[in-house]
Amino acid sequence: MIYLDHNATTRCDERVVEAMLPYLHGMYGNPSSLYKLGRIARSAIDTAREQILGLIDAPGAQIVFTSGGTEANALALASALDRGLAISAIEHPSIFENAVYYRQCFRDLQTLEVDGAGTMPLLALDKANWQAGDMASVMLANNETGVVQDLAVIAERLAERGVNLHTDAVQALGKISFSFKKLGVKLMSLSSHKIYGPKGCGALAVAEDFVLKPWLRGGDQQYGWRAGTENVAAIVGFGKAAELAKTEIDTRETRMLALRMRLEQALRTIPGLVIFAEQAKRLPNTVQFGIPGINGEMLLMQLDQRNIAVSSGSACSASSGEISPVLTAMGVEASLAKSAIRVSLGKDNQETEIDQFVDVLKTLIAN
Ligand SMILES: Cc1ncc(COP(=O)(O)O)c(C=O)c1O
Repeated sequence: MIYLDHNATTRCDERVVEAMLPYLHGMYGNPSSLYKLGRIARSAIDTAREQILGLIDAPGAQIVFTSGGTEANALALASALDRGLAISAIEHPSIFENAVYYRQCFRDLQTLEVDGAGTMPLLALDKANWQAGDMASVMLANNETGVVQDLAVIAERLAERGVNLHTDAVQALGKISFSFKKLGVKLMSLSSHKIYGPKGCGALAVAEDFVLKPWLRGGDQQYGWRAGTENVAAIVGFGKAAELAKTEIDTRETRMLALRMRLEQALRTIPGLVIFAEQAKRLPNTVQFGIPGINGEMLLMQLDQRNIAVSSGSACSASSGEISPVLTAMGVEASLAKSAIRVSLGKDNQETEIDQFVDVLKTLIAN
């Protein structure tokens, strides 16, 4: 099978599985227990925390482990309750749907527009109404187009108004190098299964000077912010995946970018094909394109029949058959947006797989 859907999920790295196994069986202690077995689990969590903080360059920040990126996003937004919240128009459904659901609980809910290239102009921030203590949620990299926002500049502009910035860095993590500290964000959502770690595990990184509101009440795990016995094996796996990403990020980035450029060069020979956000700064692994007159969902299924896995956009909108809100926000015409296919490369993809994909794609659209 040719797997080209790494923004949906990745296969667990063998080294990650190896690191996790002992914590599923021999070292099964509860990290809150005071005896040795518990202390071993606690120490494994502490190591994972450091590994993750190392990858995002966030010395001194806190890490709250969650069940994934979705929960990390919900936890972040919970700290904006009773205050104003502004989210970018291209956020993942786990931000958008939570923001809309809790709309009544925010003083104000605003949308920050993006331009045709999928990037957020500073003007969008200047046009919004802010009060000190409000929160803005702007993703670092988009899951569909791969567009990377200039977050440091955005954070600086918001800080002038006393606004706290949360970023969903789920797709950027492990694909591009960035620094939590230098970006100047207060909260950052992360997910393990996008970086060759296990599913069902994520984290919210919290700046030292940010006061988080409790999320799940119960025991006093995780500073009382998120009660519940930690998923030790998954956390260990997430930590290991983060450690591997940190060591290998430059190699991965260079390899994936070379593959993406090879792919894009071949795609440009297809008449009428449009690469979305082509001119914007994008993740090295992501390309989303449309072909006029083609039904993206149908093309996806035909590719599947030939053992090639791609996506039409986000995993969530793919199953609902809706037109991508991300492309809509960028002003892409509905018929072209409906033809969207997203290819997201992984660290282990090969040139031959790219060439094979292009050959099959060309055959399918010619028929
Ligand atoms: C940008 C973004 N945020 C959040 C999530 C949700 O992460 P998880 O699957 O870990 O809940 C995803 C998953 O696709 C994503 O792409």
